[in-house]
Amino acid sequence: MSDDRLIVALDFPTMDQAIACVEECGDAVSHYKVGMELFYAAGAPMITYLKEQGKHIFLDLKLQDIPNTVAHALMVLSDLGADMMNVHAVGGKKMMEEAVKAVREAAAKAGRPAPKLIAVTILTSMDDEQFGRLNYNNTIAEQVIALAKLAKEAGMDGVVASPREAAGIREACGPDFLIVTPGVRPAGASLDDQSRVATPAGAFQNGSTHIVVGRPITKAEDRKAAAEAIVKEIANA
Ligand code: C5P
Repeated sequence: MSDDRLIVALDFPTMDQAIACVEECGDAVSHYKVGMELFYAAGAPMITYLKEQGKHIFLDLKLQDIPNTVAHALMVLSDLGADMMNVHAVGGKKMMEEAVKAVREAAAKAGRPAPKLIAVTILTSMDDEQFGRLNYNNTIAEQVIALAKLAKEAGMDGVVASPREAAGIREACGPDFLIVTPGVRPAGASLDDQSRVATPAGAFQNGSTHIVVGRPITKAEDRKAAAEAIVKEIANA
């Protein structure tokens, strides 16, 4: 009783805390996101552990550097066996093209399917004031769509996007493009520091293919029950 479209964010500073969460969620959760905090603390053994548990993994390290460096980093990371990884779209088309090539080559060499590679467009923490200081001649919404289209042109599998952006990206990038959406809150849940939120079912109605949910599950009194409630809510979405 799990749903691969629900990705639970393991935002913990230690591997022990992350393992406790995975154990508690049990068979209600099949897909986990490992971000910078946990990966810098626990490294490859965390990914190995999740694979041993038969879980799918989104390794959320948001790479951005010169194309050669990103490509080589992704070749190394590919060997850990994550199912999904990401880079910043503002690294440019060439960087994304080299990234796609690297993960595909690494997978072919190892004889396993290539992980999905998705792009971060504009961080959802960016507000209009902060965005204005970057001097792009676009609104945030326009820039998100432009970067999503660039990611698609570069051969990327999809993007990370807020619920508010998902519908426009779906329209601009077609039906097969992955849209992974954080900022998801079940009705009545605490918003924490998220401002642009959708309910789990609402995110899918907007065109998302996956939702990333952290604190509404990881900080719940009963983590498994919280995950099960979301799995149930999205069953028909
Ligand atoms: O706890 P919460 O559900 O807000 O966690 C959302 C997760 O998604 C966190 O790991 C956060 O870093 C990540 N994320 C986000 N907004 C983005 C990209 C990633 O909230 N634009």
